Amino acid sequence: MRKIPLFAIDRSVKQIEDAVLTEWGELLRRGRFIGGKAVETFEEEFANYIGISDCVCVGNGTDALILTLRALGIKPGDEVIVPDFTFIATATAVVLAGGIPVLSDVESSSLNLSPSVLEAHISDKTVGVIVVHLYGNPANMKEINRVAKKYGLFVIEDAAQAHGAALDNIKVGNFSDAATWSFYPTKNLGASGDGGAVTSNDSELISKVRSLANHGRKTHFFHEVIGCNSRLDALEAAFLRKHLKLLDKENSMRRSIAEKYEKVLKNYEKVNLLEKLPSSTHAFHLFTFKIDPLFRDRFKNYMASKGIEVGIYYPLPLHKQRALKEFSQKVYAPNSSEAARSVVSLPVFPYMTIDELDYIVNALEHFFSNEV
Ligand SMILES: Cc1ncc(COP(=O)(O)O)c(C=O)c1O
Repeated sequence: MRKIPLFAIDRSVKQIEDAVLTEWGELLRRGRFIGGKAVETFEEEFANYIGISDCVCVGNGTDALILTLRALGIKPGDEVIVPDFTFIATATAVVLAGGIPVLSDVESSSLNLSPSVLEAHISDKTVGVIVVHLYGNPANMKEINRVAKKYGLFVIEDAAQAHGAALDNIKVGNFSDAATWSFYPTKNLGASGDGGAVTSNDSELISKVRSLANHGRKTHFFHEVIGCNSRLDALEAAFLRKHLKLLDKENSMRRSIAEKYEKVLKNYEKVNLLEKLPSSTHAFHLFTFKIDPLFRDRFKNYMASKGIEVGIYYPLPLHKQRALKEFSQKVYAPNSSEAARSVVSLPVFPYMTIDELDYIVNALEHFFSNEV
């Protein structure tokens, strides 16, 4: 039977394999493995790509969040509002940085943080908000920034799923005090291992993150603050430099696959497509839609019977995660709970063949016309 995976990283890697191996050969011969020219050049190129002045690479997207919160001066007891429907790191980073995550409901239409609900959660302890562009779909930054400005809050964009997404042709990462990125291999801009970055127009903030990520150093043997070790390897930077060159092309491949799915799925009453802002460019890290929860298991099983892998991002809202019990007592997030019961993601990887896409589309049409 034909097998179509949810992610197919190998197809992107194939495009850059020779060029990466040449670069890696040089780095191995030079014996420069952490930091150095390759990392500096990637930082410059990624900042240019986003259209922002400064970038620092760190060990992963979770550290990017923790170190940004620390650089912004978070103190014990400070509250940071985060969406209740996201990958858990958005919230745990706040705890690891010493703060309290306030889990806030998302819009049922987009599954991104709801600006009005956000405003209702602001207390005299609130210092900031972390916005996630979930699945690569830009959140309503205009409204969120209006609320944040009114109450003097910092804004962080958790852009781990949104490399290349934009609002009014301005890339996400430009709508906050700082944006954090993950280069986990399945991400749109994936590395060949863990990696992350923080971008901002505030060069002082970026220097603070750089120092915190490197043992609180100012110079090699002089440490100003308690830091940690969260740096990017030169080999990863070399890989990322090659992958960055493909990012726009790969994102447009993702968008044309998504367009085809949307055209088909919009015809079925058991399906709810997620809404995008009119002026937005979605990066489709995942193609996710909502299905009537009564049919989700049946849909998953049907797709599996056809050899098509689908995913559930995420099966639990954050307030139901045991790890976050302490922060979940008073959470009311019906849209997030409903999303956890109804979301399902289809393969949307670059270099999917027309044949594979047609096969998935046929399976969708068959399921929604005959099985529900
Ligand atoms: C929204 C979001 N935030 C943060 C992270 C954490 O990134 P990392 O896995 O690189 O630590 C991820 C990655 O999975 C993510 O999807």
